Amino acid sequence: MDAVKAILSHRSIRSYKDKEIPAETVDLLLRCAVRAPVTAMGHFYSILVVRDQAKKDQLRDVCGGQGALRSSTYFLFCADFHRTELLADALGVERGIHGYTALVIGTVDATLAAQNLAIAAESMELGTCYVGSVLHKAFTVCEVFDLPPRTIPLFCLAVGFPNEDPELRPRLPTEALVHLDRYREPAAEEIPAFIDSIGSSFAGERPVSRSLEGKKSFVRGLIQGSWWQSGEEELRKALTRQGFDKELDKELR
Ligand SMILES: Cc1cc2nc3c(=O)[nH]c(=O)nc-3n(C[C@H](O)[C@H](O)[C@H](O)COP(=O)(O)O)c2cc1C
Repeated sequence: MDAVKAILSHRSIRSYKDKEIPAETVDLLLRCAVRAPVTAMGHFYSILVVRDQAKKDQLRDVCGGQGALRSSTYFLFCADFHRTELLADALGVERGIHGYTALVIGTVDATLAAQNLAIAAESMELGTCYVGSVLHKAFTVCEVFDLPPRTIPLFCLAVGFPNEDPELRPRLPTEALVHLDRYREPAAEEIPAFIDSIGSSFAGERPVSRSLEGKKSFVRGLIQGSWWQSGEEELRKALTRQGFDKELDKELR
């Protein structure tokens, strides 16, 4: 399948066949991932390939037993400044990439590589699903994978042979997401269509009611702080564990 067709037919897959992806396919997917552009040649990310069943079970438990995490292979994407610091030390220069900049460029590099891998996998008719619970459980994930300082797990990409064929899920209207030359504030009359679009989909594995009230209640839950609160606390703990906290505190002062 070509890339455009694969992109336009993307659906997250949360049910997988009990069948391993061949090792050569995993290698090819990784080659596609690492061909993604990288910020200033910095390569501020790492990918952990998780194939070992015990590790997979552990990660699935940490992430609340999600269906997506019954796939053949998980790719755990991390922002990585550990390698950068080894280079800095070897070259005898200051460890100079800090704080918000480090977190953002590491996230960008990891995300570009991940989406390359996802498109390549879907073009081979494999299924994929991102698992963001990894960020919300970042402290525990650092412990499970014994991640070195100055790395932070961002998300997992589950890949495997699909065992379902879901419909395309809706997106906000293109005009809501795309602006021509200047940012266009949406009109109040456009908001109900946004709620309709977001609320017509699925929250993870759970189908949501398609009544108007059901959609509203889903969107209310999604955008409320309480949805994200425990993840925020866990991420702060992980940033402290991984040595990012002091520099972020310094930037806040
Ligand atoms: C960063 C990120 C994290 C996600 N985390 C999860 C997750 O933890 N569990 C899950 O089932 N789906 C997860 N998804 C998939 C989204 O729910 C899905 O992309 C969205 O509902 C749209 O559906 P579609 O991908 O089928 O078009 C995640 C997607 C992204 C981009």
